[in-house]
Amino acid sequence: MSASRPPDPASPRSGRALGATLRTPAPVTGSAALVGAGPGAADLLTMRAVRALERAEAVLYDALLDPAVLDLAPPHARRIDVGKRCGRHAMNQAAINRLIVDLARQGLHVVRLKGGDPFLFGRGGEELDALRAAGVPVEVVPGVTAACAAAAGLQVPLTHRDMARSIHFVTGHGRDGTVPAHDWTALVRAGGTIAAYMATRTLPSVAAALVAAGLDAATPAVAVENASRAEERHVFGTIASLPALLAAPAPSGPTLVLIGAVIGLAGAIGGAETAGGAEVVEGSEPALAA
Ligand SMILES: C[S@@+](CC[C@H](N)C(=O)[O-])C[C@H]1O[C@@H](n2cnc3c(N)ncnc32)[C@H](O)[C@@H]1O
Repeated sequence: MSASRPPDPASPRSGRALGATLRTPAPVTGSAALVGAGPGAADLLTMRAVRALERAEAVLYDALLDPAVLDLAPPHARRIDVGKRCGRHAMNQAAINRLIVDLARQGLHVVRLKGGDPFLFGRGGEELDALRAAGVPVEVVPGVTAACAAAAGLQVPLTHRDMARSIHFVTGHGRDGTVPAHDWTALVRAGGTIAAYMATRTLPSVAAALVAAGLDAATPAVAVENASRAEERHVFGTIASLPALLAAPAPSGPTLVLIGAVIGLAGAIGGAETAGGAEVVEGSEPALAA
């Protein structure tokens, strides 16, 4: 009995079959842009983001996006809602990656619009990897991240020469939905402002971990819901009181928690409304800096 051998690549007889399987894939004629859409207000898009949208032939966007942003794309552009909100994925990440690649392979200029900045808790890195692996030319357009929009709405600087020498972006939501194992002690020792993304649900655990790591329980904290949007709402407290204050009514929009002495500076705006018209939740006062 003779064992079948793999074809010898050097043999002229194997040339046609191998040529077919090893043929270099046709170059991708389309392209992709990972575009930061900012925190929600259409006028917080960058000029570069607007230009990318104006020449888009397909736009993949998330459910939370302001419809006015989508209007910037030409009418003939395909608009695809791949919307995912915390814990409820309309399309999983692998499917989104495949879709961007497939559309670019069809020769389209694809804009993947992502809330805030694409590279901050936005899985932009995973999409970039998929596009590079598929040979799709890709551009990345930064966006205004939620922490910057929230700070601007509060008129609170995220860093301050006397109060906060660093800013730390952390997530309150790990892969399994629980709080990730941050080095809380190092975070507290650093002494800067903490911007906690996706931390509304896990705030009791985040707060407890920070206090256990040595953060003063009286450290000012604020939850900013819908930063930059018409429905922006602020809930002020301390790191100890904020979890309970935020529980009722629980935010329904995207919410960011800022923690640190600089939040005390928001006291300067006071009153029931900020200059931007945001609602300050009744019963919660801007905390004073320690
Ligand atoms: C998946 S992360 C995306 C972050 C985004 N890439 C960025 O740079 O802002 C989603 C989280 O960002 C925060 N976020 C996004 N937009 C926001 C907004 N307009 N107001 C408050 N928080 C927001 C919330 O913590 C939300 O759970």
